[in-house]
Amino acid sequence: MPEIYFPEEDSFLLSDVLKKEVPKILKKNPNPKILEIGSGSGFQVETLLSLGVHPKHITLTDINPDAFKFLKEKFKHSKVIHSNLFDKLNKKYDLIFFNPPYLPEDAREPKGSRLATTGGKSGSEVVKEFLKDAKNHLNPDGKIFLLTSSLTSGINWSKYNKKVLAKKKLFFEELVVWELSL
Ligand SMILES: C[S@@+](CC[C@H](N)C(=O)[O-])C[C@H]1O[C@@H](n2cnc3c(N)ncnc32)[C@H](O)[C@@H]1O
Repeated sequence: MPEIYFPEEDSFLLSDVLKKEVPKILKKNPNPKILEIGSGSGFQVETLLSLGVHPKHITLTDINPDAFKFLKEKFKHSKVIHSNLFDKLNKKYDLIFFNPPYLPEDAREPKGSRLATTGGKSGSEVVKEFLKDAKNHLNPDGKIFLLTSSLTSGINWSKYNKKVLAKKKLFFEELVVWELSL
């Protein structure tokens, strides 16, 4: 059974970005529609709520059925959807963010944590699928915050404008949070 992902270094880096960037978004639009792909334990959504985002404008998702049940119980005032990426979603959002599984396959990784950490052979398979569809769910001035690692290879960013919002060096990799727009 896949485990629910509780916050690690990547979660903290993305949360710091939300703390810096979401107040700027709220200044321009007090009710932005926000989607998180792969909400895990809901750590990022707790950050959004602490920043004053209205729960009814937040959509949480996860492919892991246990994470879905956990989130549904915990965030009763938000929309919680059991979905593989955008499969069960048909709306557009002002902000979409994702701390994805981004590591290349490694036989030493325990089975229970692979769904949350391993993004296929090159580490980018889930990210590539995400990028294929994310643009179709973004409002015209919308933004995407996406975390990747220096170990994630082979991403084609060509459909997006991109800039770096934050970086963090760990001892075997560097994490980056990107802002993507159309
Ligand atoms: C690295 S964890 C991040 C969890 C949480 N957002 C955080 O920042 O702590 C990645 C999450 O994405 C979920 N996930 C993996 N593949 C997915 C997919 N194809 N669609 C939706 N969620 C997915 C995992 O179950 C896991 O909860």
